[in-house]
Amino acid sequence: MQANIVVLPGDGIGVEVVTAALAVLEAIGRKFGHEFDTEEYLIGGCAIDAHGTALPDETRQACLSADAVLLGAVGGPKWDDPNAPVRPEQGLLAIRKAMGLYANLRPVKLHPDLIDASPLRPERLAGVDLLVIRELTGGLYFGEGGRWVENGEEWGKNTMIYSAGEIRRIAKLAFDAARGRRKKLASIDKANVLDVMRLWRKTVAEVAEDYPDVELENVLVDAATMHLLSRPASFDVMVAGNMFGDIITDEASMLSGSMGNLPSASLGQHLNRHGKPQGLYEPIHGSAPDIAGRGIANPIGTILSLALLLRHSLGLELEATAIENAVDQALSDGVRTADLASDGKKSVNTQQMTAAILVHI
Ligand SMILES: NC(=O)c1ccc[n+]([C@@H]2O[C@H](COP(=O)([O-])OP(=O)(O)OC[C@H]3O[C@@H](n4cnc5c(N)ncnc54)[C@H](O)[C@@H]3O)[C@@H](O)[C@H]2O)c1
Repeated sequence: MQANIVVLPGDGIGVEVVTAALAVLEAIGRKFGHEFDTEEYLIGGCAIDAHGTALPDETRQACLSADAVLLGAVGGPKWDDPNAPVRPEQGLLAIRKAMGLYANLRPVKLHPDLIDASPLRPERLAGVDLLVIRELTGGLYFGEGGRWVENGEEWGKNTMIYSAGEIRRIAKLAFDAARGRRKKLASIDKANVLDVMRLWRKTVAEVAEDYPDVELENVLVDAATMHLLSRPASFDVMVAGNMFGDIITDEASMLSGSMGNLPSASLGQHLNRHGKPQGLYEPIHGSAPDIAGRGIANPIGTILSLALLLRHSLGLELEATAIENAVDQALSDGVRTADLASDGKKSVNTQQMTAAILVHI
């Protein structure tokens, strides 16, 4: 296969972890006989320095015509002035919008040897392997909102709004994902109180008719936050609207201990040349200015994001699994970056962790 991948290293450790992922991409290309053409563009703080904007036009154009996009992280203290006319994060929001990325996928899996790194008790964590799917372009964050003064009182409002079509689209994606896993889907809503969530539940039930092999569980969002702590291993795929998904994804990411390990995929409505959804793939962490430039960042979140890219945007399941297995094996070998090394155990740098993963590919 030939694929065009746009690479956006961004700022801080973004550059370091993307370099690691590109070494893995090259190894996969060699092993499986694919031609991956990568081209780097600016986004975030480095783009502000060079062009005065967080998302230069040439970056936007390149992303729109790519098969997929791999991103490191953006931001840092240099661009943190609250009065600055332009901020690095604007680049991220703008590219998500331009690419129409409506679904955010965050797999959370806990390597058994890393159980001590999580804040939960080990017996609660055995078998945790879940995928949270968040709707990204609708709901409360995109409905009508505003602030005003009336009768001497200040008011504010936001509106949670979904069309059945938007719900159907994300539900289908979630059922498809569940079908490829343990065939269980938990749909998170607040149907006991909100009209919009009654539409959510009804629409999800309609989509479920096409997936008789997938077991559907409707869970109220308040109960879901509780169950994520009391029985996290019972979940397979969870799907939620924008706001509930925002909260659930962050809660779920804590199960794994270090955010340095976790990948994400944002999938769009546009199909690429391979007939797959164009997507943007990035680790869940930020640019980590406190360790940037020292070569010690954990590259696993970005390397696993690359695996998601191969799976979802290029349909290369075998190759994606090869990367995930290599990461598992490096961790089983006891290799740890500083964020994973507990009790003063010896840690390796970014390059050494990458090399430990590459030997298993
Ligand atoms: N998607 C993104 O690009 C994104 C996401 C979150 C934050 N940010 C930006 O990043 C900057 C720093 O934000 P923050 O400090 O709140 O969050 P952060 O995720 O950058 O860092 C939080 C802590 O986790 C550690 N950490 C993060 N990733 C790591 C890794 N791969 N290996 C080892 N340790 C790691 C950091 O050293 C830090 O102590 C800010 O400018 C923020 O706006 C960007």
